[in-house]
Amino acid sequence: MPTEMRGLLLRQGRIADKEGFVGNQLDRPADYLELGSLPRPVPGPGQVLIKVRRAAINPSDIAFVQGFYGQARVQGQPAGFEGVGTVVESGPGLMGRLLKGRDVAFYVTPDGSGAWAEYAVTQAAVALPLKKGVPDRDAAGLIVNPVTAAAMLELVGAGDAFVFSAAASQLGKFVAGMACDQGKKMIALVRREEPVKVLKALGAAHVLNETAPDYAEELERVLATEKPMIFLDAVAGSESARVHKAMGDDARWIIYGKLDTSPAEILDPSEMIFRNKSVEGFWTTAWASKTSFLRKLRVFGEVQNRFRDGRWTTHVSAELPLEHALERLPQALAQPDGKVQILLSND
Ligand SMILES: NC(=O)c1ccc[n+]([C@@H]2O[C@H](COP(=O)([O-])OP(=O)(O)OC[C@H]3O[C@@H](n4cnc5c(N)ncnc54)[C@H](OP(=O)(O)O)[C@@H]3O)[C@@H](O)[C@H]2O)c1
Repeated sequence: MPTEMRGLLLRQGRIADKEGFVGNQLDRPADYLELGSLPRPVPGPGQVLIKVRRAAINPSDIAFVQGFYGQARVQGQPAGFEGVGTVVESGPGLMGRLLKGRDVAFYVTPDGSGAWAEYAVTQAAVALPLKKGVPDRDAAGLIVNPVTAAAMLELVGAGDAFVFSAAASQLGKFVAGMACDQGKKMIALVRREEPVKVLKALGAAHVLNETAPDYAEELERVLATEKPMIFLDAVAGSESARVHKAMGDDARWIIYGKLDTSPAEILDPSEMIFRNKSVEGFWTTAWASKTSFLRKLRVFGEVQNRFRDGRWTTHVSAELPLEHALERLPQALAQPDGKVQILLSND
């Protein structure tokens, strides 16, 4: 095994100052990342070393490299939260030893080493052995969005409706199918016409295009009919505030992303007092820390089954070889649909 590895390394450390978040685009990736070499990391107690084949690029990665994520950057270390590969070495600990030689989908814990590199290190507990028949393109993004879809749907009662913004996202597509299977009615909000048909075909009960001329009336009509109590929102902008205001008493605005870079606002704070409306956050990392090991195992099994039998599939719009990733990233991220992935190795 080589003692050096290549990766996309963070040029800055820590959390960024307040200004400068440019959203889910990276027009000048070289401001934040550089292709470089560094010593191959050594797994510590409870950790595994993974030879990475493919890594995901999610909005959380883009926010993280800019320094706008709930975890500090480490200058000179590889970025990247999740990917797929083979466990080639383990630190002390039974779980890691059992994983040696296994193909795994993995999430990089803060004590590990990032996925946008030829080798990554993480805790064995978040290196999930792959079931046969799960394609690498699904496995590279098997944790962040799929687990979030399952975890957030736990907040919606059986038979209930819920509002879901930025629904053309990969996460939105996963939620559409799973919600339908669970008998939960998704009111999906999108900002283009193309995803409307796609989401309906996946099982969303209603799909509203925020840019359509009759959007406001349609929203009012659907909210009046379905009476959703939960708004799962990745945008957190002015339209989100309007949607929450249009919802009924007790409506919970649950923010799990910040895709709109303009300041968020609450239109009528008195509704929090007199109509029992609320604003809260959702982070899968926090969900994972308070959820039992057995429940997580069941969720991990369920998401893999959905990929294996084709109920879920990851739409990959661009595959970037590591050495060309920086120059191709801006254009790849600017595509409206699908996930961008980094290719690290073929074996
Ligand atoms: N809190 C958590 O634990 C957690 C976990 C997983 C994901 N997330 C969040 O979930 C969201 C979706 O993730 P993903 O990987 O599925 O995303 P994705 O596939 O990359 O898609 C991003 C989507 O966001 C839409 N979008 C971007 N900027 C927008 C804006 N200003 N207003 C409205 N829509 C906008 C895009 O719409 P177009 O298609 O029209 O361009 C696109 O459909 C992200 O915010 C991510 O951070 C949070």
